[in-house]
Amino acid sequence: MKGLHRSLALCLGLLTAVPAWGQDAAVSVKVDQPGPVLAPEIQGQFAEHLGRLIYEGIWVGEKSSIPNIRGYRKDVIEALKAIRVPLIRWPGGCFADEYHWRDGIGPRNKRPVGVNTNWGGVPETNEFGTHEFMEYSELVGAKTYVNGNIGTGSAREMADWVEYLTSPSNSTLAQTRRANGRDKPWTLDWFAIGNETWGCGGNMRPEYYTDQLRQIRTFIKPAPGQPTKIIASGGNSDDLKWTDVVMAGSANMIDAISLHHYALPSFGRATRGTWKDKGSATEFGESDWFALMVTATQMDDLLTRHSAVMDKHDPKKKVALVVDEWGNWFDPTPGTNPGFLEQQNTLRDAVTAAVNLNIFHKHADRVRMANIAQMVNVLQALILTDGPKMLRTPTYHVFDMYKDFQGATQFPVTVTAPKYSYAERSLPAISASAARAKDGSILVALTNIDPNTAVTTAITLDGATASTVSGRILTAPAMNSHNSFSAPETVKPAPFAGAGLNGTTLSVSLPAKSVVVLVVR
Ligand code: AHR
Repeated sequence: MKGLHRSLALCLGLLTAVPAWGQDAAVSVKVDQPGPVLAPEIQGQFAEHLGRLIYEGIWVGEKSSIPNIRGYRKDVIEALKAIRVPLIRWPGGCFADEYHWRDGIGPRNKRPVGVNTNWGGVPETNEFGTHEFMEYSELVGAKTYVNGNIGTGSAREMADWVEYLTSPSNSTLAQTRRANGRDKPWTLDWFAIGNETWGCGGNMRPEYYTDQLRQIRTFIKPAPGQPTKIIASGGNSDDLKWTDVVMAGSANMIDAISLHHYALPSFGRATRGTWKDKGSATEFGESDWFALMVTATQMDDLLTRHSAVMDKHDPKKKVALVVDEWGNWFDPTPGTNPGFLEQQNTLRDAVTAAVNLNIFHKHADRVRMANIAQMVNVLQALILTDGPKMLRTPTYHVFDMYKDFQGATQFPVTVTAPKYSYAERSLPAISASAARAKDGSILVALTNIDPNTAVTTAITLDGATASTVSGRILTAPAMNSHNSFSAPETVKPAPFAGAGLNGTTLSVSLPAKSVVVLVVR
């Protein structure tokens, strides 16, 4: 914003952050007004029995020629540890409401084989079950989120599962766990009562689900000392009624309610499209770039509206809003099983990942977990594998750049940005968030969603002391630049030299379609 527009805005008192002369955008970071701690779980992951996620993506079996630790592929564990994955949600998704945990314990060669009816109708060998998930989480260093089965399960089945996982007693269930190789109880951090119960989890109405939830919740009894928090199955995108009814009926019995929101280019098109023609992950023009930005950035408004509904029933914000499924959903990669939801991941995904993390930071007073869908080989995956090969996607690199936000203390941020316009519609070009990292440094994350125009930004750090700035940038020549198995490092972060510090004001030159994270000391 320059000249006349800026003066006009000043006269009207419209701006809380005003670009300095010669700057296109302004970001004001209120270092003197620290907000909530950013739950590390905001960078959580989702691992469903779907396609090549569990089988091949993380579990290859002890006899595999792919290097593994007791059957879990090593390269993926190392990549996940490097970004400090804070939490993994398992076993679904839609799969959860057809999963019977007893099928996945005991000797592997004796476990029953089922059919994964939701995802491609392929056999489910149950080789990866409760012990494998809990052990895997320990190897990665992640907290555990187990999603219970309300659709085809029962209160008793869920209560037994929780006892099996957490009981230090000599009960038959605890002894069975010991006989299966685990003496000490595991730590169960989160447990959900159903998934998408308005859809694949049982096509329930919110009133019916709420009654079920209340009944089942009564019998979920983690052993004393366990940190287990209980999650209610929440609404989809803008289904505020669901949140209202569930909160009205159960706010005093739950620790969190979930929200799912997927971004599809088709949903952001000028003429709103459908799930059928979502759009390609790699073959797209600016029209679908813009459309995806529209539907991805809707998350901000959704969180505001769902939080407002929750405030009616829980003004002290005891109940968390957990976005336990979010991310981009495109047409499957041609030639793959459509039920496997495989898609490539480009710079466009990195940009929307960063924008969403910024939105979660803004809403950290309510949002205490968010799990991108999904961790490996499915939807907006952080990691792709092909037999023994593995690559880190652009989305992975965003999580790497943001990892120090885990446990940091949020600062309120005001952004005044130029518009990114396309076909007579527009969005703010800049998204930002900021926080005090655990080591005392100030982190500032900036994304320029405009694929054509660089933006010069003035960032004021109100109330800070600062002497140095460094950072990293993720960008690439094309909107659809991506990593492939023959060129796995096409898109990766680089040191960023475009930021200057003058007192407590930063001047940053943000290239088109870029993600930057700055560290100010
Ligand atoms: O992430 C894929 C699917 O999307 C999940 O199984 C389901 O919960 C959602 O509809």
